[in-house]
Amino acid sequence: MTSKTKVAVLISGRGSNMEALVRAAQDPACPFEIALVLANKPEAGGLATASAAGIEALCVDQKPFGKDRAAHEHAIDAALRERGIEVVALAGYMRILTPFLVDAWAGRMLNIHPSLLPAYPGLNTHARALAAGDAEAGCTVHLVTAGVDEGPVLGQARVTVLPGDDEHALASRVLEQEHRLYPKALADFVRAL
Ligand code: GRF
Repeated sequence: MTSKTKVAVLISGRGSNMEALVRAAQDPACPFEIALVLANKPEAGGLATASAAGIEALCVDQKPFGKDRAAHEHAIDAALRERGIEVVALAGYMRILTPFLVDAWAGRMLNIHPSLLPAYPGLNTHARALAAGDAEAGCTVHLVTAGVDEGPVLGQARVTVLPGDDEHALASRVLEQEHRLYPKALADFVRAL
């Protein structure tokens, strides 16, 4: 059997998309393994979830680096390379990247975003979709490039906006789709490498 592609998942919070990737990777037919879960904050809840699943969970705390985002990213990059990581999956990683990390992982870094890009890059996507009266919302997996939430789209999933939807209801229906979309988009991406 050919070896599985080594993926690191970068998180900042609860890590439910990371969990979906970890679950998918348990299937023997899955072409990737989650070799590392890395957070930029020690309080990221997903670190404990990853450890409990037997995955190395590492915090490269941004705090000691202050405003020097590139120095923080050099530390992240070193951790990824030390472990032979081949693909990076951002999953709720809430820090804007500098050109250093984007360039270092060009063509090998994916992100999931809770809107149908190019609509609503950035934050508060569901509130913005509701305020605009959109009939559909959804999520996008894309390659990471220099512009925030701008890279080539690898996959999307759509949900219908229902009458009476608030931000919370819409977010949770989109999140269910995120958990389906990300493992599939990552597997397709890895198979095509
Ligand atoms: C998800 O909605 C993802 O699309 C966005 O941040 C959220 C992270 O949630 N980038 P989780 O940490 O994966 O549960």
